[in-house]
Amino acid sequence: MKLQILVVAGDGIGPEVTGEAIKILQTVAELGGHEFTFREAPIGGVAIKAHGTPLPPATLDLALESDAVLLGAVGGNEFNSLPPDRRPEAGLLQLRQALGGFANLRPAFAYSALTQNSPLRPEVIDGADILFVRELLGGLYFGEPRAWDREAGSAWNTMRYTREEVIRVARAAFELARSRRKKLTSVDKANVLEVSQLWRATVTEVAKDYPDVALDHLYVDACAMHIMNTPRNFDVVLTENLFGDILSDEAAVITGSLGMLPSATIGGQVNLYEPVHGSAPDIAGKGLANPLGAILTAAMVLRHSAHLEQDAQAVEAAVKAVLTEGYRTPDLARGQSGPMVLSTKDMGAQVHRVLSETINRNQALHAV
Ligand code: NAD
Ligand code: IPM
Ligand code: MN
Repeated sequence: MKLQILVVAGDGIGPEVTGEAIKILQTVAELGGHEFTFREAPIGGVAIKAHGTPLPPATLDLALESDAVLLGAVGGNEFNSLPPDRRPEAGLLQLRQALGGFANLRPAFAYSALTQNSPLRPEVIDGADILFVRELLGGLYFGEPRAWDREAGSAWNTMRYTREEVIRVARAAFELARSRRKKLTSVDKANVLEVSQLWRATVTEVAKDYPDVALDHLYVDACAMHIMNTPRNFDVVLTENLFGDILSDEAAVITGSLGMLPSATIGGQVNLYEPVHGSAPDIAGKGLANPLGAILTAAMVLRHSAHLEQDAQAVEAAVKAVLTEGYRTPDLARGQSGPMVLSTKDMGAQVHRVLSETINRNQALHAV
């Protein structure tokens, strides 16, 4: 198996967590005899500083000729006063648009070893396993017109979707629901917004092709509440761009930390992989970042781009095992300290240890 991966580590904790994800991919390649090649390019704040733009053309060219793009995070406080189109985040949005992936998969999973680490009660989150399918190329993020008219003291954005945009992401979500527990919750604000009425009508229409999947609809405000109250009731959650951004960070509470959530964006020319969290300027450069979201993102690279499902599962199992052994990063330790509270690198090394053992054992079994 050959895979050309572009790494755009970006800002803040991006390089720290991405470094651990790359090591995991390298281990899978070495032990499995695969050829993964890694190239690196600047994006976000580091690209603004070096090249005056958050997505240099050379980065975009490299991304488009790769099989997969692995992103760390973009953004930093020093750029906060810039207009949206010149900020680090604009580089990420341009990259998403150019790569063309419209279905952003964000799994949120309650690890049994971590149920005590969530502020939610263990009996509420135990067994929760939600897959958010966030539409990534439409809605308020990309709708025109958009502007801030300073003189008039007025600003506007446009939430816009076409039927085709809803159909394609709905199909992706129904297919995924079919491979899981066959339940799909579509989330909108159809009691207020025309865009949501189009969304709901279109999803209902697509559902006719998936009679084996149970569809229900929720308004986004109620959904935000139900996710905290009864997270086990959800299987696949399909929603538009901004709602998906918000609900997925909320769902991170189920796992114990935002640093645990991975994502993969599929459906376009090149798949894009990024942990859900941001550049975390408050902890950047201190070895405090949780690399597990990035490592689980590497597992999604293995699943969706390398089509190495067994290895993807081995990485996920290694993360689970390390957590079961009691290892924590500070975000998961919630104020506790001691020898089981690890740095970014040491947590990566623990996952690496378990993963190598698993792959070597699997190979020994096959050799018999
Ligand atoms: P954030 O996700 O960076 O941080 C929110 C909180 O979660 C912080 O307290 C942070 O320390 C913690 N956190 C996040 N990831 C963690 C990890 N791996 N380990 C331990 N703790 C972690 O969100 P924010 O503070 O709202 O945004 C900071 C910057 O990141 C902004 O510029 C924002 O635009 C950007 N951002 C980028 C992405 C991305 O690149 N994909 C995603 C979200 C936010
Ligand atoms: C995310 C982030 C991005 C988004 C920002 C950084 C553009 O919050 O991936 O969740 O809003 O999509
Ligand atoms: Mn977000």
